[in-house]
Amino acid sequence: MSRRPSAEKTPPPFDAPTVIRMKRDGGRLPDAAIDWVIDAYTAGTVGDEQMAALLMAIFLRGMDAEEITRWTAAMINSGPRLDFADLRGPGGKPLTLVDKHSTGGVGDKITIPLVPIIVACGGAVPQASGRGLGHTGGTLDKLETIPGFSAELSVAQIRDQLAGIGAAIFAAGELVPADRKLYALRDITATVDSLPLIASSIMSKKLAEGTRSLVLDVKSGSGAFLQDPAEAARLASTMVGLGAAYGVPTRALLTDMSVPLGRMVGNAVEVVESVQVLAGGGPPDVLELTLALAAEMLDLAGLDGRDPADTLADGTAMDAYRALVRAQGGDPDAPLPTGACTETVIAPDSGVMGDIDALAVGRAVWRLGAGRTAPGDAVAAGAGIELHRRPGEPVAAGQPLFTLSADTAERLAPALAELDGAWSIGALPPPPRRLLLGRVEE
Ligand code: URA
Repeated sequence: MSRRPSAEKTPPPFDAPTVIRMKRDGGRLPDAAIDWVIDAYTAGTVGDEQMAALLMAIFLRGMDAEEITRWTAAMINSGPRLDFADLRGPGGKPLTLVDKHSTGGVGDKITIPLVPIIVACGGAVPQASGRGLGHTGGTLDKLETIPGFSAELSVAQIRDQLAGIGAAIFAAGELVPADRKLYALRDITATVDSLPLIASSIMSKKLAEGTRSLVLDVKSGSGAFLQDPAEAARLASTMVGLGAAYGVPTRALLTDMSVPLGRMVGNAVEVVESVQVLAGGGPPDVLELTLALAAEMLDLAGLDGRDPADTLADGTAMDAYRALVRAQGGDPDAPLPTGACTETVIAPDSGVMGDIDALAVGRAVWRLGAGRTAPGDAVAAGAGIELHRRPGEPVAAGQPLFTLSADTAERLAPALAELDGAWSIGALPPPPRRLLLGRVEE
């Protein structure tokens, strides 16, 4: 009797329960196990429930530096790595590519004024960006409230925009497919606030997007994913090290996220506030952080020709913003959506506004519909909160403190409940807070 040649495929080198068990029991994941699990999850042969268990094990047990580096590399390898070294800008000059990424916060709209400032100063920004995560807002969710604006750009369009107008802000989805899936899964499995998972998520996108230098805004405080400043500093060092390992000079500013940034928190309302900054106004804290990050980016990229503040004063940053919005299909002059239902919290007493808890405001805005409860949910463009008083500002009884906006009235009460106990009015101003806490570089 002759034997037929075996048609069996080589069995996979690992299986998900074994990999989960290794991490659950506090072990190190071997390089090959990391490569296999990221590949298999991206391809769909490891399921969401298995990856959710592994993410929770990583959340609880952590990863060492080598594991984080390999996990990040495996994520980068799940998609293409963009390279714009051949591109030339107007006049045939090579592009100076530089980008920024924030670890996430409440009212953090800084990318929207920052990218046009860098363009006006001679830089080019290829920005792979994200949607809202947990209680924090996402730049793409905000920009997509501009009628017509699309963040789903092809590589050809990113290249055209970089060469033509110096910037593209695009969904990172196709670039790092592993992050697209992991990001959505972390959002609904309480596994966002983990140093290795944040570092690999951010750096996989930034190292794949084709930037040549990178500035990170690493936040701590109640509204940040890593609330402890010392842990945030460790996150910053990990990401700066990953950038260096890939030959992308990377620096981080450590910044405070105990109170929301600016006066507007939500989707369309944050575009409104960003345009105020571009028009030469805007809240002082938003302006301070925007200019501090701009200065770091220009220094790291070796662009010393212009003072970023001048680009706000002379309108060149606004011109760059309008060109960017138009290039991505948006109408910079179209009215932005507003919530149909509003409720205003009135000051019960006179005095000075105390601290306003960033996490509570982030959760309130999420309850108003600005964020997601399931992957792929649509977000409400008009959901948001206006802070009429910032910490330290005087207030008289009867004056408005917060205006909440939502698409439907039933969203207001749960959002109001989140704000309970999150603010106070006192006789004295709260102790002054520093927004810029430190800086980490190689
Ligand atoms: N931003 C990201 O891109 N990923 C995270 O995990 C957190 C913030």
